[in-house]
Parts: sequence; C-alpha cells; structure tokens
Amino acid sequence: MSEPTPQTSDAQMLFGFWYPALRSQRVRGRRLVPTMLLGVPLVIGRDADGRPFAFKDACPHRGMPFSHGAFDGQLLECCYHGWQFDVRTGQCRHIPSLTSDARLKLDRLRALTFPCDEQDGYIWVYMPDAHSRDGEIPPAPRLPVFSPRYRLAHLSADLPCNVDHGIIGLMDPAHGPFVHQAWWWRTRRSIHEKEKVFEPIPNGFRIRAHAPSTNSAPYKLLRIYGHPVTTTIEFVLPNMRFEKIQCGPYWFSSRATVTPITADRCRLDYCAAWNIFYHLPFMAWLLKLFGRLFIEQDRRTMEKQAWGLKYHPRMLLIDDADRPAKWYFQLKKAYLEAKRTNQPMKHPLSGPVTLRWRS
Ligand code: FES
Ligand SMILES: [Fe+2]
Repeated sequence: MSEPTPQTSDAQMLFGFWYPALRSQRVRGRRLVPTMLLGVPLVIGRDADGRPFAFKDACPHRGMPFSHGAFDGQLLECCYHGWQFDVRTGQCRHIPSLTSDARLKLDRLRALTFPCDEQDGYIWVYMPDAHSRDGEIPPAPRLPVFSPRYRLAHLSADLPCNVDHGIIGLMDPAHGPFVHQAWWWRTRRSIHEKEKVFEPIPNGFRIRAHAPSTNSAPYKLLRIYGHPVTTTIEFVLPNMRFEKIQCGPYWFSSRATVTPITADRCRLDYCAAWNIFYHLPFMAWLLKLFGRLFIEQDRRTMEKQAWGLKYHPRMLLIDDADRPAKWYFQLKKAYLEAKRTNQPMKHPLSGPVTLRWRS
C-alpha cells in the first residue's frame, strides 16, 4: 500500500475521438441544431437524404453562427450576407455580393466541417486533432449487442464539472454505499470487502468477468433465470465505460460516456440495450426509472462537489479504491505523449492487477 498520490486535473480535452453530440431525435427535417463539443460550437443538421452533418457554428466570412441561417436540404445559407455552403463538403457555392466578372474562386472557400455519423440513437461527431487524417478516421463507436432482438433506452445528465471529474466519478467504486443508498440497491451497512482483477485492453482496462455484487437487489432478480450471472466492465479512452451483464442467453449491455462540453462542463450519456425480461412491457419503464434515480444521485453529488472544485483543490488518490482513477490520468498522459512523439502508446498496466477495496 503506497502513500496517497496527489493529483491535479488539468481537464485537458482529448481530440482525435468520436463524441456523441446530440440524440438523433433532436435533429429532424431541416432543423439546424446548435450544440457544443470540447469547447467548439457546432451546428448539426440533416441533408435531403437524412444524413447528419456537422459544421463549426461560425461562418468563415465574419463569424456569424450558421445556426441562425437557412437550410434547404443541401445548401446552408448564412443569415448575415447570404453566403451559401454545401453541407457535404463545406465548400462555398454562392456569394450574393459578387459581380458577374468577379475572379474569386469559390471552391477554395470552405466552412469548417466535422465527420459525422449516427449510431445507437446519437449523432456522433469526430473531433480531429492535428494528427487526424481524413482516410484514417475509425468508425463511430457502437454499443455491443448480443442477439438480434433487444430493447434500447437512453438517459443523460449535465454535470457541472470538468470531464476528468465526470469520468473518475464514473469509475469510482467507493462512493456507491454513500451516494447510491436505497433499499433496492445497497445501504451503508452492506459495505464489504471486494477483490477484482483488472487487465489492460487497448486504450483502457477491463474488470474481468465476475459475479456481480451480492449487495445489489436488481442482480438478485436475475437468479430466476437459473443461470450464473457475470458482469464485465471496461473503461476505454477518451470517455467510455461499458458494462455487460450475462446470464445464460440473456444479457444487458450498457455504455456510459462523459463528454466534455466546455472546460468546466460535461454531459453523461447513458445508453443500454438488453434482452433480459424482453417480454415484460414495464421493464424499460422500470429501468429508466431506476436509472434516472441513480444518475440523479450522481449528478447532485457532482453539483455539490463543483462548489469545492472551483478552488482547484489537489486530489489525494488512495490505493486501491482510486487506482482506476490513477490509471485514467496515466492513460490520458500516455495517449497525449504517444501523439506528441508519434510513438506507440505506453500502456500504464503491463498485465493483470488485483485490486481490493471495501464498498
Ligand atoms: S458572416 Fe456569414 S456571410 Fe457574412
Ligand atoms: Fe455513481
């Protein structure tokens, strides 16, 4: 057991990844929806074929947000001087003030666009870094599903803290008995010792498949299926926590992402798919109800914490409960270092590690 490690959060936002920008359902027809990712203002819409596009929400002429403009399904028109841009390429197509003999080459004028994709009910935007090359952008993340038929649900919460605190809150095993006290979940008295094996995976780490916590009532429900229940949890940079619960042919798969909106604000997006109790109509309702309660407990805690964080305290991260948080900071550093030096990333975990804590 080592001394607590002082740690500061620089709240650096990681470019070179996909982030969920908006729920798909918010972008309908010709609507232009302004949003923000990693401190960059964006406007998102759909072309005539329904494909989403993302522009920086600032006209290259004189910075007017495009979200005040007009859109006909193909061309985005700025409301200030009427310049028009092709939403597929970002190229300028028309400048109304130009005379017929003007020599200006319009196709050299471009608005800043971002790769955009739609997956699991979200519109994802790729936020490139200085090293990103068009042809090398990976596909947008997908929630793993394990059978053709399943149900899907979404929840989200705005968190008034920087992305680092949002993420380490997500992977912190020690707050459960204090923040998530409820008769149906766990109580302070149910604290007991736990031991789990963590192993490295690309850009992150995994908690090996284990039997879920015996102090959580929802897991006890699954026993009616008569199959052993296992949980696998993964964290992957920049911001994703995956959890899979398997019970014979039945499964529950979820992904939580913490997306930086600005330097001191982030958003938790939770997306779950399952075939457990598939035919119970109130299952989705129940899950949303409990999920919302659970997320609200985290959100309120972070709201209180945000007051303290305004004064930029150092953190004291202790072993073993805060080790995942330490790995997160190390992974982030290693990722940035690999980008800087153009070398393969040095993973902070060299092999499986067993962590022990009480929760
Ligand atoms: S600011 Fe957009 S056209 Fe002038
Ligand atoms: Fe929590």
